[in-house]
Amino acid sequence: MAECVVGVPREQKTQEGRVGMTPAGVWVVTQLGGRVLVEHDAGVLSGFSDQAYKDLGAIIVETSDEIWKNADIVVKIKEPIKSEYPHLRSFAGRTLFTYLHLAGGAIDLTRTLLDNKITAIAYETVSLPGKDNRAVFPLLVPMSQIAGTQAMHGALARHQPEHHQDLSVVIIGGGNVGEAALCRAVCGVGSIVIFEAWEKRILELKKEYGRIEKVKIFPLTMLDDKSVRKYLKEADIVISGPMLPGGKEAPIVLTQKHFRIMKQGCYIADVSIDQGGSTAWTKGNPTKPGETFTRGARKLVFSAVPNIPGSTVPAEATLALTDTTLPYVLVLVSESLRSKGGEYTALRDNTDLRKGLQTYNGYVTNEHVAAHHDLSKEYRSPDSFF
Ligand SMILES: NC(=O)c1ccc[n+]([C@@H]2O[C@H](COP(=O)([O-])OP(=O)(O)OC[C@H]3O[C@@H](n4cnc5c(N)ncnc54)[C@H](O)[C@@H]3O)[C@@H](O)[C@H]2O)c1
Repeated sequence: MAECVVGVPREQKTQEGRVGMTPAGVWVVTQLGGRVLVEHDAGVLSGFSDQAYKDLGAIIVETSDEIWKNADIVVKIKEPIKSEYPHLRSFAGRTLFTYLHLAGGAIDLTRTLLDNKITAIAYETVSLPGKDNRAVFPLLVPMSQIAGTQAMHGALARHQPEHHQDLSVVIIGGGNVGEAALCRAVCGVGSIVIFEAWEKRILELKKEYGRIEKVKIFPLTMLDDKSVRKYLKEADIVISGPMLPGGKEAPIVLTQKHFRIMKQGCYIADVSIDQGGSTAWTKGNPTKPGETFTRGARKLVFSAVPNIPGSTVPAEATLALTDTTLPYVLVLVSESLRSKGGEYTALRDNTDLRKGLQTYNGYVTNEHVAAHHDLSKEYRSPDSFF
């Protein structure tokens, strides 16, 4: 049997409290025959002490350096930030499983992954075929639901509860984020209008919520329609969560022409900031948890936090996320224990996981990432390897 060491570093992003694996996950990996290194205090903000990890078979190490130097597979939460890039060099040729959002950020991370021939699998593009030929992203869904709820929660918390019934809300993108935001607010606010791009999804939303009088659902194309523009003009809160599937950069749905007509002081939460941002003024401009910026003649207030679940409800978010990531970690571990280089077999045989592959053996394997960063020469389709 080959060896397989899984590494769980402590997250470095500001106020990120999630952790890539729970003690129960560690236990399963060790039962298969793998070893798990967990960085000191990696789970503490999610409610897991070092002792809890140790009790279920983890080896606690003091520094992230030890994780990246010794692990065959690193399982984390957020994309590595600049201070973590040196670790990627000592991790050359091995497997990283985490959120990556490569088309939403600068080229540096993609370059570092390519230069070090890292097998990088992104949570956000691991996918299964869903109904109506739409892919389902099982590792994104639970975090999107939390992010939608928490984004709306943060927006409402800016107003006294006795005024909530006077609030007008606009939601752009009626997917997991949009629906969760709707559910958080629907009972308490005055009106909610959703703009969604996909016809079938509009029908689904109408079927679920269309009978609630204060909820209106429109196609995105009507955002600029005179008869409907009034909703954006009157909005006190806008939650923006559109997504183009497959790891594409987020579409920009609000621009200066919208900002000009919006209500003074309207609060806009751009949830799609992790994929680069979905408004003209938040694009590439993330905010820290709890921070906002005010811009324009209308003094619009923007929030664009890339890690809403991890900075608001880390313990719940860790449990919800690791429930969905663990089965894929186990596929990688089992194959790696069967033979050295087992990630190859895992990716060959598991099409969900292969959909998540972003870089492999020095090539970009996601066409949207390659197009976004102008890396057509470095692009190879994942299927060409397996
Ligand atoms: N900031 C965070 O902490 C955080 C956490 C989780 C998810 N997210 C992000 O939220 C975004 C949405 O995720 P999701 O799971 O809800 O995706 P989803 O696919 O369920 O929903 C997105 C919806 O947007 C629609 N859409 C696409 N283009 C549109 C446009 N131009 N205008 C209006 N609607 C449009 C799609 O048809 C889809 O229904 C993703 O970018 C995801 O990465 C952010």
